[in-house]
Amino acid sequence: MKTREENNQLLLWRSKGAAAEGIPTPDELKKTPGWPSLKRLQEGPVAIIECMEEIPCDPCENACSAGAIKIGSCITNLPVLDEDKCTGCGLCISSCPGLAIFVLSLNYSDESALLLFPFEFLPLPKVGGEVSAIDREGRTVCKGKVVKILNKRKQDYTPVVSISIPKKCALVVRGISVKKNGFSKQNNSPQAENNENKMRVLDHPILGRQGPGKMLNITVDGKKIKAREGEMIIAVLLNAGIRINRFTSKYKEPRGIFCGIGQCTDCIMTVNGIPNVRTCVTTVEGEMVIETQYGRGEWG
Ligand code: SF4
Ligand code: SF4
Ligand code: FES
Repeated sequence: MKTREENNQLLLWRSKGAAAEGIPTPDELKKTPGWPSLKRLQEGPVAIIECMEEIPCDPCENACSAGAIKIGSCITNLPVLDEDKCTGCGLCISSCPGLAIFVLSLNYSDESALLLFPFEFLPLPKVGGEVSAIDREGRTVCKGKVVKILNKRKQDYTPVVSISIPKKCALVVRGISVKKNGFSKQNNSPQAENNENKMRVLDHPILGRQGPGKMLNITVDGKKIKAREGEMIIAVLLNAGIRINRFTSKYKEPRGIFCGIGQCTDCIMTVNGIPNVRTCVTTVEGEMVIETQYGRGEWG
């Protein structure tokens, strides 16, 4: 039977499930081996690993010096959290390319919980400031207060933000709204209104304005698509509305961009006859021929 606290949180949780929307339900998350028990959550800070895809990825295991995360010999295993070993230090948070790790302390005070989460936008919120706390679907759930920001080299330039939030929202909140906090200024050039550029980040807050670049025609599964020389292949595909890069060997399931930094291999495709090319870290060069990869792919 669910406790009153769990029931309150379930009322706020509106997801239809990972398969339907890409956002897990409470029951789906509880079945993952990275999800701590409610008892452990109530005892103090502990990691919550919301990693549900069997992908080749394991930096979280090495990031935890307490040995609280185990993936084992098969790199596609889901990370298993040993909740008794976890101290809630938060060092694993920024190691995850999928931004799937959080630390939650349910006993931060009588009324509030403390959530630590990765934050990859600029500018950073201000310590002490009030922010809009959002759920996994980006919907505002409640107000939060920024308690601390860790942004040192050991965070690998992925800052970790701590916010205090009402306890009743603690299992639901997973970030803060960038729009309401005055960030989010991408695709703001006139070109962005052009359909050809609808998904391109033309004015990046860190990388600056994208240069004009030479436009080329590349071929994706037999169709000609406009691409800008030098941009990542995945950027061209996203802009063209292509979300599936490959199908897995065993279960024939579709996969698309996940980490975006060359770590997970979910975005691999066959490029100019060569299989297993990571499209998130490979640039467009010449009139490439790109094909969706089935299983391990075939050499052309
Ligand atoms: S919070 Fe710290 S102790 Fe817990 S799993 Fe992450 S790195 Fe390990
Ligand atoms: S996606 Fe994150 S949580 Fe999952 S295995 Fe990779 S590093 Fe660990
Ligand atoms: S999306 Fe992970 S390697 Fe490309």
